Amino acid sequence: MPGHVLIAPSILSADFMRLGDAVELVEQAGADLIHVDVMDGHFVPNLTIGPPIVKALKRVAKVPLDVHLMISNAEESVGWYLDAGADMVTVHVEVCNHLHRIVQTIQQAGAQAGVSLNPATPVETLREIIPDLDLVLVMSVNPGFGGQAFIPQSVDKIKAVARMIAETGSPARIAVDGGIDAVTASTVVRAGASMLIAGSAIFSAEDPAAALRSIRTSAETRVM
Ligand code: DX5
Ligand code: ZN
Repeated sequence: MPGHVLIAPSILSADFMRLGDAVELVEQAGADLIHVDVMDGHFVPNLTIGPPIVKALKRVAKVPLDVHLMISNAEESVGWYLDAGADMVTVHVEVCNHLHRIVQTIQQAGAQAGVSLNPATPVETLREIIPDLDLVLVMSVNPGFGGQAFIPQSVDKIKAVARMIAETGSPARIAVDGGIDAVTASTVVRAGASMLIAGSAIFSAEDPAAALRSIRTSAETRVM
């Protein structure tokens, strides 16, 4: 089990008129990365932000930007996000025909490469690529919106990814995205996750800094 669990607040649930303030607030509360949700209205029903906003965020963020591409044309547009300053780029296995190529492109640009699985996508789809990955992102909701309920089957899926990582000697870290709060955080960390993405649990809280800290406390609490 990892010592330090990374917390990546998702700014999808922040006030878009004050993104710079949101970044600063969570950095001061101990965020390890800033999670940026890019949606295209095609792979997922929602539309959010694109490369110009990633570039603007890069100017203010002191911690790395973790860019989650929920877009159908990642293979054509990944370069835009790398140029905009993404430090970590995660693509979806469901929409990448040439997964190995895009992972190489991301890493050759000096960024970390992640691959994400929707709730209905089997872990086995990662078998051949997992030794090359820096991150496996297990979606614990159907991507598209913040504030959805955590899907309980995600816990077994995280365990299955952890087994595959052990079997293949992969250096990948497991991240979980969707419905993470101070309750689900400890469950997913015990299952093998070492990076937690949380949007509404942080930004919809009355005190976002306190909410982030309680997720960290939950994540680092060992239940015997
Ligand atoms: C969902 C996004 C998530 C989202 C999580 O499609 O990928 O990053 O912001 O939101 P919460 O934490 O509210 O489930
Ligand atoms: Zn996300």
